[in-house]
Amino acid sequence: MSRKPMKNPYARPDALTLRAKSEGYPARSVYKLEEIDRRCGLLRSGQRVLDLGCAPGSWLLYAAKRVGAKGSVRGVDLTTLAIAMPPNAIAIAGDAFDRDGSTFAFLREGAPYDVVLSDMAPSTTGNRFTDQARSAELVRRTLEIAEALLAPGGAWVAKLFMSEELVEIRKQVRALFTEERIIRPEGTRQISYEVFLVGPGRRRPPAAG
Ligand SMILES: C[S@@+](CC[C@H](N)C(=O)[O-])C[C@H]1O[C@@H](n2cnc3c(N)ncnc32)[C@H](O)[C@@H]1O
Repeated sequence: MSRKPMKNPYARPDALTLRAKSEGYPARSVYKLEEIDRRCGLLRSGQRVLDLGCAPGSWLLYAAKRVGAKGSVRGVDLTTLAIAMPPNAIAIAGDAFDRDGSTFAFLREGAPYDVVLSDMAPSTTGNRFTDQARSAELVRRTLEIAEALLAPGGAWVAKLFMSEELVEIRKQVRALFTEERIIRPEGTRQISYEVFLVGPGRRRPPAAG
């Protein structure tokens, strides 16, 4: 019996990709953040935002617009951004796993943040378990960054390739945030197994000493 070859959903720009281009965004991912923002009341004028994995720049442009001239957005990605940067945003090429070098120093300079965003995704290998494990590592790193640099009451969003690791990650999220939500935005492609974890209110760290 002959089987029909599977259609590749990434082969042609879909309606959201075309809409993103027409609205000045380099990628359709902007509509995922827009939905999370709408549902969780994430972004407001004057906030300081950190955008981890910011290339090609849709989330950064959206966040910069939402926080306005009184706010600021700092982004980092392994890849250099090719977009024209809004005046209230700055981005560098760097690795979010950097713990004591120039990338972490750059992230620390903008702290404390009101919102930490991560749409980071590993380069996929074709092995689902490897990709899930790498995605979970990225999410854990964003939690470490949030713990170090997010203001009390601040919000965190991170993308996860869904896996059993969610159970342990959720424990960490509950320890750091007063609430947790799991969102699969409408703009997510049907074949994708990604979800977005949201921690809307960072707990106040225990007083030192
Ligand atoms: C889905 S894209 C982000 C799209 C972006 N939010 C937008 O709207 O334009 C995922 C990004 O994560 C970045 N990334 C993956 N691992 C990273 C790491 N360790 N440090 C920084 N960026 C990373 C990749 O280079 C890639 O550009």
